[in-house]
Amino acid sequence: MPPPYLLLTLLFSASVLHLSTAADNTTTTPALTFENPRLIQAYIALQAWKQAIMSDPFGFTFNWIGPNVCSYTGVYCAPFPFNPSIRVVAGIDLNHANIEGYLPHELGLLTDLALFHISSNQFCGTVPITFKNLRLLHELDLSNNRFVGLFPIVALSLPHLKFLDLRFNEFEGPLPHALFDKNLDAVFLNDNQFRFGIPKNLGNSPVYVLVPANNDLGGCIPPSIGKMRKTLNEIILMNNNLTGCIPVQVGLLKQVTVFDVSFNNLQGLLPGAIAGMRSVEQLNVAHNRLTGVVHDAICRLPRLLNFTYSFNYFMGEAPSCSGGGKVFDDGQNCIVGRMNQRSVRQCSSRDARPVDCRNLQCGGSSLVPRPPRPPTTGPIPMPPSGQPSPQLPP
Ligand SMILES: *[C@@H]1O[C@H](CO)[C@@H](O)[C@H](O)[C@H]1NC(C)=O
Ligand SMILES: *[C@@H]1O[C@H](CO)[C@@H](O)[C@H](O)[C@H]1NC(C)=O
Repeated sequence: MPPPYLLLTLLFSASVLHLSTAADNTTTTPALTFENPRLIQAYIALQAWKQAIMSDPFGFTFNWIGPNVCSYTGVYCAPFPFNPSIRVVAGIDLNHANIEGYLPHELGLLTDLALFHISSNQFCGTVPITFKNLRLLHELDLSNNRFVGLFPIVALSLPHLKFLDLRFNEFEGPLPHALFDKNLDAVFLNDNQFRFGIPKNLGNSPVYVLVPANNDLGGCIPPSIGKMRKTLNEIILMNNNLTGCIPVQVGLLKQVTVFDVSFNNLQGLLPGAIAGMRSVEQLNVAHNRLTGVVHDAICRLPRLLNFTYSFNYFMGEAPSCSGGGKVFDDGQNCIVGRMNQRSVRQCSSRDARPVDCRNLQCGGSSLVPRPPRPPTTGPIPMPPSGQPSPQLPP
């Protein structure tokens, strides 16, 4: 039961909101009574949001009427952490509502939110800068919408954010370095159009799960990845146009259970150091240009369930790389005596030749965002020095 002295009244006069006491009956406009002032702010935010919604096919917001915001569909109230005697709006869950609209600036008034989940809608535009006021936000799930523009950097200013899900949108541009210096638990970035490489401070991130798959990041895998050994559980870098060699530091990832770098342009040998991934269950390096042999120590990893290394140029594999109740996919390589391998012609092509990874270090190219097109005036910038050369000396 809310204490009566906290009851406030909100009056409408034209489009201007006036605060007043419940005794104020000098006007005939309807009076709205709220449990506490924080819910008035929430009311203003949610009504502005309703105005910004063009289509709500399942009617999630149809009952967003009147002062009892805690009864609105998808709106969850909880005791205010700093004063448990009052209720505040602590969560928004509009997942799978297929709503068309945008996020208005007024959402920054929802300062008590811990969760904001709007996955699988058709929200467009950008994330308002006023989200910086959501100082208690733990989880931000914007996945599967139509957000555009640069990485929503405002999310990185939220001191308590742990879970960030931007997957399946149309975000573009570089990943900010600050993303990997932030104390996050899980970051989903897949299926956007992020480019310009993986920032070299990747390894500073304490995330358990990192999924940048299906972007166009390019560049190489920063060797700092080894610093994630105490926390990283799952990393999916597939389909990112990554180049260079797999850094031996990945072998330090003792906690990793899923390691997927498939569908890239990785070259060189599969580092024997991968045998250090003592927890790995799903290991996928398929669809690259890896050469050499697949080592026994990798195929014998104790937790391994599925090791997929098809569509490379491996010339051999240890006998342990088959059977044992595990899935080993070695198809479309150059392994003599195995079924379903590449043609002799492919296996003698330039792609199949070994490369010297010392000549393929992470160049500056992945670390410095390049302009999307050359400037029309002024000198044409030279490519960064130390650019890896993919060719072997003859
Ligand atoms: C992959 O990166 C190279 C530059 O390293 C670029 O020329 C090429 O267009 C990229 N491929 C795709 C599919 O984006
Ligand atoms: C093994 O992993 C690959 C790649 O992730 C996947 O496509 C395949 O379905 C998996 N196989 C089994 C039997 O789980």
